[in-house]
Amino acid sequence: MTPATSLFTPVEADLRILADNLKQLVENRHPKLFAAAEYLFGTGGKRIRPAIVLLISRATMLEQDITPRHRRLAEITEMIHTASLVHDDVVDESDMRRGVPTVHSLFGNRIAILAGDFLFAQSSWYLANLDNLEVVKLLSEVIMDLATGEIQQGMNRFHINVSIEDYLEKSYYKTASLIANSSKAAALLSEVSQETADHLYNYGRHFGIAFQIVDDILDFTSTTDTLGKPAGSDLKSGNLTAPVLFALEEKPYLEALIERQFAQQGDLEQALALVQDSQGIQRARELAAYHTKLASEHLCDLSPSESHQALINIANYTLGRLY
Ligand code: IPE
Ligand code: IPE
Ligand code: MG
Ligand code: MG
Repeated sequence: MTPATSLFTPVEADLRILADNLKQLVENRHPKLFAAAEYLFGTGGKRIRPAIVLLISRATMLEQDITPRHRRLAEITEMIHTASLVHDDVVDESDMRRGVPTVHSLFGNRIAILAGDFLFAQSSWYLANLDNLEVVKLLSEVIMDLATGEIQQGMNRFHINVSIEDYLEKSYYKTASLIANSSKAAALLSEVSQETADHLYNYGRHFGIAFQIVDDILDFTSTTDTLGKPAGSDLKSGNLTAPVLFALEEKPYLEALIERQFAQQGDLEQALALVQDSQGIQRARELAAYHTKLASEHLCDLSPSESHQALINIANYTLGRLY
């Protein structure tokens, strides 16, 4: 996995502090849960969400330094994300993440579920301690949205009638909500106007949707080694993402294969070939590019700064992962 570090230059030092703090924030009263949580933080990840929170914090605090609350918000954001991944990997029965075995494959499902709950609970505690009701509301909604998104995805497995709108809604709940609401929360901690805060929410929303579309394309076009997590797994498990939804419009036989849940030998390979042979991947790229452009347009209220530029670059980098 290519770490996006050079993109994060204005907040590189902040991200180093974050990495140290994350390990210390996890309560160590329960040694087993602690081991599982600590293991996951140790594996890193791209840290795109806390980077965005810190960049928005810096871009909205220009003359002053960012506050301990901005830092804590970035930590909470990464904790929520990490918790959601532990649960997502159980639901997806995925055995690799960030290039290493997933928590559930190493510690078992019981520990993984409890470790995820434990991280969600701890993030809520730190959130409450920010003593900012509006921020508490924004991030609590994210935790509800994450569950809503997982449930929607689970209910729609192998459903060929899922529309692109349904897919975008699910992607908002699963992915964009966290980025949008934590972006807005960072702005509110800097005491910007409501209008600027809403623009930054929309930056995060469009960026998050583009990010999920790109992740879904890479599931078709990349390798397990590059991704550090299993490639080619979405279609197999009936999770119909943008490339397939577009391909279905051109390839009616894909419907039959999906409806019988790839029961016959060679079905999955044939379905993958049909997606590759369609405009599905290209159309999904265009959709991601469209949301990336909208994301950048919502940075209009920010004065020029290194951090502002980095927020634009991160959005473009996400699209660049496809080439
Ligand atoms: C994975 O997120 C889940 C999605 C929303 C696609 P990331 O790709 O940001 O995962 P890490 O944190 O870098 O491992
Ligand atoms: C995003 O969806 C995961 C969460 C937001 C929890 P995916 O299921 O596509 O994520 P990966 O591919 O497992 O990282
Ligand atoms: Mg998954
Ligand atoms: Mg994925």
